[in-house]
Amino acid sequence: MKQIELSIKNAFGATTRQDVDALKPAAQQGLRKLTDGSGLGSDFLGWVKLPSETPASLLDDINATAADLRANCDTVVVIGIGGSYLGAKAVIEALSDSFQAYRRDAATRILFAGQNIGEDYLYELSDYLKDKKFGIIVISKSGTTTEPAIAFRLLKDQLEHQLGREEASKRIVAVTDASRGALRSLATQEGYKTYVIPDNVGGRFSVLTPVGLLPIAVAGFDIHALVEGAAAFEEATLTGANDMSVLYAQTRNALYRAGKKTEILVNYNPKLHFFGEWWKQLYGESEGKDHKGIFPAAVDNSTDLHSMGQWIQEGERTIFETVLSVVEQKHELRIGHDEANLDGLNFLAGKRVDEVNKMAELGTILAHVDGGVPNIHVTIPALTETYLGQLIYFFEAACGVSGYILNINPFNQPGVEAYKKNMFALLEKPGYEAETEAIKKRI
Ligand code: PA5
Repeated sequence: MKQIELSIKNAFGATTRQDVDALKPAAQQGLRKLTDGSGLGSDFLGWVKLPSETPASLLDDINATAADLRANCDTVVVIGIGGSYLGAKAVIEALSDSFQAYRRDAATRILFAGQNIGEDYLYELSDYLKDKKFGIIVISKSGTTTEPAIAFRLLKDQLEHQLGREEASKRIVAVTDASRGALRSLATQEGYKTYVIPDNVGGRFSVLTPVGLLPIAVAGFDIHALVEGAAAFEEATLTGANDMSVLYAQTRNALYRAGKKTEILVNYNPKLHFFGEWWKQLYGESEGKDHKGIFPAAVDNSTDLHSMGQWIQEGERTIFETVLSVVEQKHELRIGHDEANLDGLNFLAGKRVDEVNKMAELGTILAHVDGGVPNIHVTIPALTETYLGQLIYFFEAACGVSGYILNINPFNQPGVEAYKKNMFALLEKPGYEAETEAIKKRI
């Protein structure tokens, strides 16, 4: 079977093959820490063997719930933020038709909420849902995150108003902690169908739990294939049969040590925009600690070649890029011949649009390498559930290994609490009286 592949042949210049090789022992030790739990943050390693240990019965149960939601709802709103939304959004966007928010043969539209606190966003969503048969999947591991809690309060009220409390409770599914948190209490009280986010899986590593799988199944995609793709990659990674994750971690750390402080994840396929968003959270929240860590950025090419391209080609030489390259497209579209040829494009007549895109990709990589931007290349045979499962596991494992090479705890996120403390103090949340008093003196 084909699989995703990694090439680092264009990564050298600022760093060398020897520098990358020198990090192999640290990377292999990092991989061992992921399996024997001897590294920092070992309470959060539940994702490491998650794909192979996910029972088919759980996937069947998720598929049954998804079928029920699809049968009863024309729209399902997925409420969550950070790790409780980005993985599902990334996979759904990668697999969906660009001009339908859902597959042609699936009748249910997936929308997202709780990933911002935009008043107009929520007003307009509520307005859109007025005449819709909608359902809600509310996802929060802690069960206390403000953004999704606000969205859920508003949409739950609306659903209950439209359907009555009892009917509404049949169209709400909660994904949360097994026993803790406000969402768990509410779900128990209202009798919602629930799924558990395992204690030992952090938000940004949770796409292959019900957090990602339920929305992906509702969108009509094959979660068995997604998990099987990840499980095969898990086995190959953990047995050492495939060293892609380890090599990627070595290479990006060698580049970081050579002064390349920013990594840009580049796609040449608009369906991968949210994969870049998922990746940014995975690496940013995992590695940005102790005043260390590569800054993860992302661009969508060729679109961003017309905005960020100048900076990447000739700006400060502190960047490297990792390109996601999709080999096969789902559809074939050829450029036509035009007698008048006023646009001068007849040299492309008969070529597929993807051939032009691939030459834009290759030309850009060569130009960037010439301009001092090292390049790591990830080849994805096609955008399917199987290859996305491989890609997710590849990046997750590499992230854990990379964090251990950096000597930080890749699985906590203490820094995300700082804004919450200030926000609650400013909003005068009970329990934050001292912080409120202190912050008022600063503004
Ligand atoms: O990766 C993380 O832990 C965070 O990004 C969380 O996923 C995010 O803050 C949402 O948290 P919760 O699922 O508890 O609402």
